[in-house]
Amino acid sequence: MKIQENISLKQYNTFGIDVAAKQFAEFNTVAELRELLEFKKLPTTNLPVRQAGYQLPTLILGGGSNILFTKNFDGLVLKNNIAGIKIIQEDAHYVYVQVGAGENWHGFVQYCINNNWAGVENLSLIPGNVGASPMQNIGAYGVEIKDTFYSLEAFHLKEKKTIHFSRNDCEFGYRDSVFKRKFKDEFVITSVTYRLNKVPVFNTSYGAIGQELEKMGVKELSIQAISEAVINIRSSKLPDPKKTGNAGSFFKNPHVTVETFRKLRENFPKIVGYVQENGDYKLAAGWLIEYCGWKGFRRGDAGCHSWQSLVLVNYGNASGKEIFDLSEEILQSVKEKFGVVLEREVNII
Ligand code: FAD
Ligand code: EPU
Repeated sequence: MKIQENISLKQYNTFGIDVAAKQFAEFNTVAELRELLEFKKLPTTNLPVRQAGYQLPTLILGGGSNILFTKNFDGLVLKNNIAGIKIIQEDAHYVYVQVGAGENWHGFVQYCINNNWAGVENLSLIPGNVGASPMQNIGAYGVEIKDTFYSLEAFHLKEKKTIHFSRNDCEFGYRDSVFKRKFKDEFVITSVTYRLNKVPVFNTSYGAIGQELEKMGVKELSIQAISEAVINIRSSKLPDPKKTGNAGSFFKNPHVTVETFRKLRENFPKIVGYVQENGDYKLAAGWLIEYCGWKGFRRGDAGCHSWQSLVLVNYGNASGKEIFDLSEEILQSVKEKFGVVLEREVNII
């Protein structure tokens, strides 16, 4: 465990943005995290105390797949590598599994599938780490993490103690939790416990899954088959960050009232929207952006992807600012055309 100075973050974010962190360190345990935060005990020797301390802004990093760096980070970046998967409780219906925040998300999904534990198969292939999964209540193909989430442990950066959060404490919403709002930048999530089903409850409600399963010739539904179908759909729609820098959907799908939806549909009969439990409509932001002509747009190395216009991409050497500026232009044009204000999903630093 060591604090490094002026480290490039290019390999630590899936947009591949080349910015520097004033300080950078990785930790494998809560004890190491605590030690990093208590500058007097730091194993690095030659840093002036005021620099090594936690007075500097601190950024917790997982896989860097939901972050856009727009400038150098003038503070301490702490990369969470806490590992480990263990069963903490089990009954006839469920298994409760506690997972270290630094475990790779898709690796955990595969682990569940191999053990025949159901509930996260629809969330296959989402990049990033377990610790970030509750941050924005990750979701895909009809399932959100809140559906299998049981509890988490988080370390309070200032009070330097571990706090337990139940599902209710997290106040999960669509791409939302308390960690994005009232507790923003206050906690490091160190482990997450999921409650997985021993008897699977299959969710094939998202249209494309059914079609893909049919294409695959699946006769008997299984969590393996659903995972494979999701992987196939994702691979055909979303750019692989190893090849083209991106952070998945750049914006959230906006919610509007039924009255607004009806008015919009009068002017734009092909607009895509899905009715929600409370009667509101969730608009497909990708459709709005495509309608405004952005799909496939490229300026320099910053672009709007040609398969999925909700995904902004870095074709090589775009700066975070260029991508941010493009997102602002897209946001303004959607606002002018439809009167709908998009909200960024990606964390802007
Ligand atoms: P990071 O990008 O490292 O961090 C994200 C935020 O969480 C930052 O604010 C960071 O400070 C904070 N953070 C991270 N770890 C911790 C921690 N342990 N404690 C406290 N704060 C922390 N998301 C979806 O929901 N659904 C999708 O279908 C989806 N598809 C994607 C497809 C692609 C190709 C890509 C690149 C991204 C996609 N995403 C999707 C977004 C992303 O994968 C998720 O948001 C993921 O959970 C981010 O994990 P991470 O470890 O990379 O987080
Ligand atoms: N669409 C277009 N043009 C486009 C893209 C989409 O018209 O360029 C329309 C189509 O009608 C399509 C609909 O939008 O049927 C929905 O598209 P898609 O199924 O690709 O899903 P999405 O709404 O664009 C959301 C999530 C994804 C998640 C998928 C699958 C958000 C912000 N995004 O995308 O999550 O994987 O559904 O559930 O909710 C992420 O959060 O990073 C992410 C990738």
